[in-house]
Amino acid sequence: MPKVRFEPDGIEIDVPVGTSILEASNKAHAQVGSACGGVCACSTCHVYVKQGLDALAPASDREEDIMDKAFDVKSNSRLGCQSKILQDVVVVVEISRESRQAFLDEHPELRAALKQAAGAPR
Ligand code: FES
Repeated sequence: MPKVRFEPDGIEIDVPVGTSILEASNKAHAQVGSACGGVCACSTCHVYVKQGLDALAPASDREEDIMDKAFDVKSNSRLGCQSKILQDVVVVVEISRESRQAFLDEHPELRAALKQAAGAPR
């Protein structure tokens, strides 16, 4: 069974072959944004695949078009919602800054809790 590790948090989860990185993040409660709900329309699920890139379904033309809207795109950038894991491997993912920001925008209660834990005024 493939394993997905989300960095820098170190969250890991085992998922069935065919699971997308976004689906894995949802199961693992990792902070990957998904403003469009996973239909390849927003780029908020942008992640960097540090290990296991070759085990993912290839990017479609649509994904590459959407990736053009993302910030700080690198050679290992993928949209989490479009990246199905096709092999039994370890996939290591770094959540992009824009994706984590989008996640916190989607979960304001978590943002407030994090600020409170850090001692900042709400
Ligand atoms: S969640 Fe919108 S493109 Fe992936």
